[in-house]
Amino acid sequence: MKNKINFLDLGFQPLANNYLRKNQLNKKEKKYRLKIGINTNTKLVSINKPISSKMMFNNKYPYRSSMSKTMLKSFKNLAISINKNLKPKKILEIGSNDGSFIKNFSKKKVIGIEPCSNIEKITKKKGFNTYSLYWNLKTARELLKKEGKVDLIYSANTISHIENLDEVFKSINILLNDNGTLIVEDPSLLECLKKNTYDQFYNEHIYVFSLLGIENILKKHNFEIFHVQNLDIHGGSNRYFIKKKINKGQILSSVNKQRKKELSYGIQKISTYKKFAKRVKSSKDELKRIFSKISSKNKKVIGYGVTAKSATILNYCKIGKGLISYFIDTTKDKQNKYTPGTKIPILKYQGFIQKDVDFVFLGAWNFQKEIFNKEKKFIKRGGKFIIHTPRPKIL
Ligand code: TMP
Repeated sequence: MKNKINFLDLGFQPLANNYLRKNQLNKKEKKYRLKIGINTNTKLVSINKPISSKMMFNNKYPYRSSMSKTMLKSFKNLAISINKNLKPKKILEIGSNDGSFIKNFSKKKVIGIEPCSNIEKITKKKGFNTYSLYWNLKTARELLKKEGKVDLIYSANTISHIENLDEVFKSINILLNDNGTLIVEDPSLLECLKKNTYDQFYNEHIYVFSLLGIENILKKHNFEIFHVQNLDIHGGSNRYFIKKKINKGQILSSVNKQRKKELSYGIQKISTYKKFAKRVKSSKDELKRIFSKISSKNKKVIGYGVTAKSATILNYCKIGKGLISYFIDTTKDKQNKYTPGTKIPILKYQGFIQKDVDFVFLGAWNFQKEIFNKEKKFIKRGGKFIIHTPRPKIL
């Protein structure tokens, strides 16, 4: 692509959420070269060759946002604040997953769009108004006819999964009232660079947004950000509050503050990304060193939380079955399967970490606080966690 400079190569990666069944273990798995680049015009950072949405988001999608108390609490708090401050009559969520956000509102008030029909069904069964559709112009036009315009659109960890951002915002423009609010929440590029969380890049995360980058796209569609919140969610996310330009509301100081933070870190400079790429390579070497040291002592290592992010780490660092005995995870659709690419068995979380385990690799490092709180017994008996951010270490 014109104006794009690649700065990081994470090697050949499988589809990050494609958990393998036993009978697939001997079959050749399709892998894709994962390179990351920056568009020097827009400052948008993205992966090189996005895979079609239909291949990734279909009726077998395993991810459930309700699996973490942290996410549930964050959605609930946002819903309380929306009801108190914005008072919308009609709300649309793009990427409503299993309804963790919309369940906080009256059923008459909310609409959910979720392309993964297996997950969308869960919310529909609870009586919510959901559609199993991809977010695009066709969907927006169809919804406009059926539901009319809405006062608030919320989308968490979804817009960064859609390649055609122009279509995303054109579609939002169709459905959002002129005085309505758009709230977009996604991992923060600044936090990703600072914390060396290169695993924010996988085939589903087409973009990791900075304020600078997303602002450049919004401008084209006559939207502007009027407030930004920095969240701890997913290792550091930004929640952007956006309005149409014709709506002359106030722009809060948080926007300029975020812009200054990004510029002073050098988010607009290629040299920043080149340095990041060097740190990623050192992170890989260090993590491999930690694993080989532990394995030479015959210690038992398992993984905790099979995140899509961890697929990037394990495949990039080539950490497989020989180094991690198995993963535990609370998500039913991941259990009794194998991690993509590295083929590590995934077992059901039994409510505790087994007694013979010495080390736990934290795949769900973004929920470290929640997991450490839950696993006090393991920590008390001297069990240790391995984490790769901000640099690989044993905790
Ligand atoms: P995510 O980082 O993509 O949200 O995925 C988190 C994964 O970790 C998800 O599969 C659920 C799992 N998980 C656990 O198994 N136990 C936990 O306590 C938490 C918070 C998450």
